[in-house]
This record gives sequence, C-alpha cells and structure tokens, in this order.
Amino acid sequence: MELTGKVIIVTGVSKGIGRATAEALLTRGAAVAGWGRTAPEGLEHERFMFFECDVRQEHAVQEAFTNTQRELGPEIHGLVNNAGLGVAGPVDGFSSEDWQLMFDTNVHGLFYCTKAVLPQMKRQQLGHIVNISSIAGQTGIEKMAGYCATKFAVKGFSQSLFKEVRNDGIKVSCLYPGSTETNFFDGIPGTEANAQMMQPQDIASAIVYALETPPNFLVVDVEMRPLQPKK
Ligand SMILES: NC(=O)c1ccc[n+]([C@@H]2O[C@H](COP(=O)([O-])OP(=O)(O)OC[C@H]3O[C@@H](n4cnc5c(N)ncnc54)[C@H](OP(=O)(O)O)[C@@H]3O)[C@@H](O)[C@H]2O)c1
Repeated sequence: MELTGKVIIVTGVSKGIGRATAEALLTRGAAVAGWGRTAPEGLEHERFMFFECDVRQEHAVQEAFTNTQRELGPEIHGLVNNAGLGVAGPVDGFSSEDWQLMFDTNVHGLFYCTKAVLPQMKRQQLGHIVNISSIAGQTGIEKMAGYCATKFAVKGFSQSLFKEVRNDGIKVSCLYPGSTETNFFDGIPGTEANAQMMQPQDIASAIVYALETPPNFLVVDVEMRPLQPKK
C-alpha cells in the first residue's frame, strides 16, 4: 500500500523498534498514531500523535482507538503490534507475576489491539496488521521459556489471522527479529545490547517494506538475524 496519507498505529513507541518504526513511517508520508505508556521524547512531527495506552488494559486500548479515530479520521490502514517485553530465568522459581506480565503484554495486548482495529478494516476491505514476534517465536531458548511461549503464541495467532481475514482485503504479516540493539536487554541478566546486533531501523525498514507491498501479495513471515552476532 502506498503509505502517503495513510493512518498507521504503532504500539510501544517510546523507544527501540517501535520508535524507529514510527520515524520510518513518517518519512514515507504516513500519519502515525503512537500508542503506549510513555511518549517518545523529542519526537515532534505534524503527522505524529501520541495516545496514552497500556496495551494490557482492554478498555485503554478501546479508548486509544476511539481517540485515534476522532483525531485522525475513521480510516485505519495499519497496525504494528510492537509493544512487548521479556523476562528471563529458569522455570522453577520463575515469578508467576512476570509470567503473567509477559502474556498480558505480548499476547493479550496484541489481541486487544487487533480486535480493536479489525471491524474498521473489514468495513474498508483494506488494512494491514504487522505483528512483532521474535526468533524466540521460532525456536526455544534456554531460560527464556515464558518469553518464547508468548512469541510462539504471536506466530500462531498471526498465521491463523492471515488465513481468516485475507478475503476481507486485510494483510497480516509476522516478523521474527533476532537480537536488535534496544533497551530490551536491560532487564535480562547476562545479556547486553551491542552494536553487532541489528539496529531498530533495520527492523523498521522491513516493516515498511511489508506495509508497502502492492495489493496483489503480502509477506506472511519475515525472519531477520544479525549476520555476525558475536565478533
Ligand atoms: N530487541 C530485540 O532483540 C528483539 C528481538 C525480537 C523481538 N523483539 C520484540 O520487539 C518489540 C519491541 O522491543 P524493543 O526491542 O524495541 O524493546 P524496548 O526498547 O524495551 O521497547 C519496548 C516498547 O514496548 C513498550 N511497552 C512495554 N509494555 C507496554 C505496555 N503494557 N503497554 C504499552 N507499551 C508497552 C515500551 O514502553 P515503555 O517505555 O512505557 O516501557 C517500549 O516502548 C517487543 O515485542 C520485543 O519482544 C525485540
């Protein structure tokens, strides 16, 4: 889809992949509705608007959707489900609160946002939902069982939804990025973001590519990995 003048929602826009995606979409002429708990510091643009929204709360998601339509018009062309987090640790002794937090954010939040936009996209017979899974949604990782479980859930949801809504003119793409240099690793002991990793802009450009595909095809799954993660 040609992005100029289109309205694209991006969740988790304060930093990292979400912020880079919002910035990349703005350069392509889209109007960006940034949904999140925290506004992106210093991101000022006439086509960018921040809507406060904790994606774990369905009522907050519904409110952000209503406010987005009020401010940017009824048509919603894209949703990038990016908000997410990971907590690491062995399964025995793993905090049930952290388990719940990951599922509430990475899985339930993504469902609430998708559910909010689908009726409008069906009315339009046009739309594109891009979900951010992870390499952790393709293969198991030691001491990341809970995070992997959430990202495998995103994969199953995306591949099913793709088949469910393709005849409504709605595309569903799922990205599986490997290590990307963001604040994601701040809370994961023993790991540190480094410059060998992919950059958030790399993931953003793949998202833009997926969104810009012409109407006759879509990219369903995109796996991305750093070429040389460790020097
Ligand atoms: N970095 C990687 O290596 C990597 C690899 C594969 C996939 N991913 C996925 O990529 C996505 C973005 O991660 P990132 O690497 O950019 O990490 P990040 O820099 O930590 O950014 C995460 C974003 O998600 C937001 N967020 C978290 N919980 C939220 C909630 N309940 N409601 C609304 N927003 C919420 C954060 O907002 P606050 O500022 O308010 O916390 C922040 O904007 C995640 O889904 C992650 O799982 C990352």
